[in-house]
Amino acid sequence: MVKAVVLGAAGGIGQPLSLLLKANPLVTELGLYDIVNTPGVAADLSHISTPAKVEGYLPANDGLQKALTGASIVVIPAGVPRKPGINAGIVKDLATGIAKYAPEAFVLVISNPVNSTVPIVAEVFKKHNKYNPKRLFGVTTLDVTRASTFVAEILGDLSLSKEVVVPVVGGHSGVTIVPLLSQSSHPLPSGFAKESYEALVNRIQFGGDEVVKAKDGAGSATLSMAYAGAEFASKVLRAVKGEKGIIAPSYVSAEADTTGSAALAKELGKELSFFSSNVELGTEGVTKIIPLGKLTEAETALVKAALPELSTNIDKGVNFVSEAYKPQL
Ligand SMILES: NC(=O)c1ccc[n+]([C@@H]2O[C@H](COP(=O)([O-])OP(=O)(O)OC[C@H]3O[C@@H](n4cnc5c(N)ncnc54)[C@H](O)[C@@H]3O)[C@@H](O)[C@H]2O)c1
Repeated sequence: MVKAVVLGAAGGIGQPLSLLLKANPLVTELGLYDIVNTPGVAADLSHISTPAKVEGYLPANDGLQKALTGASIVVIPAGVPRKPGINAGIVKDLATGIAKYAPEAFVLVISNPVNSTVPIVAEVFKKHNKYNPKRLFGVTTLDVTRASTFVAEILGDLSLSKEVVVPVVGGHSGVTIVPLLSQSSHPLPSGFAKESYEALVNRIQFGGDEVVKAKDGAGSATLSMAYAGAEFASKVLRAVKGEKGIIAPSYVSAEADTTGSAALAKELGKELSFFSSNVELGTEGVTKIIPLGKLTEAETALVKAALPELSTNIDKGVNFVSEAYKPQL
């Protein structure tokens, strides 16, 4: 039995993500929680002829507790797009609920800024003595999805986009997003110009802005994010079921695999408590953090440029929780 729970299920990401999870045959129960509209979303999805039993919950009548009880996997797209301060508080409160009612669940954080919200969840779990770093993931899959799509476009064959694999490492905002295009399963055309390479990197790093602009004030990336979140959730569920050799980039704690993260820190020349790199998934969550491997000069420069911001973002998340838990005078 696999109960998947979406926190923020009525939102722009939450609704299509819930639809995709309802369509996933590995999911047998789907709990939808939001501060508004989940009964309607749940009623609508419940008519779809797939195995998952769907329930919608609101905050009243212990809705969060009921939604989370028995959860195997919790995905969090709750929040307000591009409002990092508000999201920090929302994620802290939801993480408190998970620590209380679903401490064993795999937790996938979508709410931005992921570079800080994942450390927030970790710190809240630590406060409740429920932290398992192997089970906490920042979802960076949208960067990976964009990289695959844009490389396939450059190769002139969109049908390749499902097969193109580009590791995207670092973090999940702007310059902290580092695509390792030299390691793409499908190399860029020979003689690909330096300016074109830089434009491609920039497009992957700031793909979200492209969508915000096109939506003209009416939202940010929701459908592509829902797709990416559902893809990553599906990988976690397949690995938990016993499928071997599933590797995907994700923003995880160095504590999830101390050997792998030590090798990674050596490459980076810096120890960071969170970093996105390829991770191998298994029945317990993260089984291995995979170091970056050989980088080009340009990629080394991108990694170097990402580190200071990433470090600041992590500290922000950690400090947010320690401030919140400070005794009130
Ligand atoms: N990781 C990524 O790649 C990525 C990509 C795009 C957006 N995002 C982030 O995802 C989040 C959601 O984006 P969206 O476009 O779906 O926004 P949205 O405003 O359409 O939806 C957010 C939902 O969260 C709900 N919500 C707010 N507070 C809540 C709480 N305390 N408990 C439960 N639900 C709550 C809202 O009611 C709303 O339904 C934002 O933080 C956004 O920045 C992440």
